[in-house]
Amino acid sequence: MSAPWAMLAELTHACPLRCPYCSNPVELAARSSELSTGEWQRIIAESAALGVVHAHLSGGEPLLRPDLAPIVAAAEREGVYTQLVTSGVGLTERRLGELAGAGLRSVQLSVQSATGAESDRIAGVASFAWKERAAAVVAASGLPFGLNVVLHRENLDAVGEIIELGLSWGVERIELANTQFYGWGLLNRNALLPTREQLARAEAVVRKYREKTDVELIWVIPDYFDGVPKPCMGGWGAISITVAPDGRVLPCPAAYNLPLEPPNARDHSIGWIWEHSPAFNAYRGTGWMREPCASCPRKELDFGGCRCQAYALTGDAGRTDPACALSPDHHLLDELAGGGTWTFRRPAPSASGADRSAP
Ligand code: SF4
Ligand code: FES
Repeated sequence: MSAPWAMLAELTHACPLRCPYCSNPVELAARSSELSTGEWQRIIAESAALGVVHAHLSGGEPLLRPDLAPIVAAAEREGVYTQLVTSGVGLTERRLGELAGAGLRSVQLSVQSATGAESDRIAGVASFAWKERAAAVVAASGLPFGLNVVLHRENLDAVGEIIELGLSWGVERIELANTQFYGWGLLNRNALLPTREQLARAEAVVRKYREKTDVELIWVIPDYFDGVPKPCMGGWGAISITVAPDGRVLPCPAAYNLPLEPPNARDHSIGWIWEHSPAFNAYRGTGWMREPCASCPRKELDFGGCRCQAYALTGDAGRTDPACALSPDHHLLDELAGGGTWTFRRPAPSASGADRSAP
């Protein structure tokens, strides 16, 4: 068994935005159930002792945790590199200064499209003015700065303008993440599903920009269309742990709904969870695989694809990911039809709400 090196710390499920593609679960963790500062500090220390060296501080919107700086400081003490994953809402110069002072190492800002009107329409909330302000604050701080855009039917055609926006904001990396259909996003799959023609056009635009800019452009493959499954999470229980706001520990951020009984960091150490919990051992390695994966030469490369996707599409997390052209369930993807309207994300229970007004 290898040691984990990455952690996704979902500090809260509360979020000022209402993105229809949100991959967080339909039933969000209530704010009243969230881990305390001390619990997060212990979890970070235990994770570091196990080998974790990189933590995404995410949510929801992690800036809604007033104790974010002491959590960052705990990671810094333990030698864990921290990246803030934020909508930008609430990221002022003072707040970023406090976080950088505590040891924050980088920032990933999300945006929903290339213009204020479109970004706000997709986010379901006026938030673009905050993002512009946050971008200026991060660029001025000198911290490594990345942009993340979830791509779908209603913004793929603007991928060139989105890249231009990132360049104008001074980012060093743009993650162009074709929608993965998990959690709330799965409810909106048809409305988010792009056409093959849209994807081909967007990919050509990205190729063109790669020739003319040094900014790193990450194109997260749309596996529904390629017939090639992604090596999800680098393998189940292989490199990464996700800690939910209420202490549940998951092998992947979308595993909330799998029939797995996730262990809780309030009841067990991270070391025990990694090594001994049934949830982390359920799909580790290749022994759990059935055909066609069991005898496939790619099984050590893609690990049979994504367990959450197999479960979402077939009701059985132990089947071959239907994204694979060799899967007996691959036809399920060909039968999907895009279109329709989406439903905006419902907020987390008893979320206090961030300041949604313009900065
Ligand atoms: Fe990967 Fe299984 Fe498909 Fe082979 S059959 S390519 S191991 S998902
Ligand atoms: Fe959970 Fe792929 S998203 S294993």
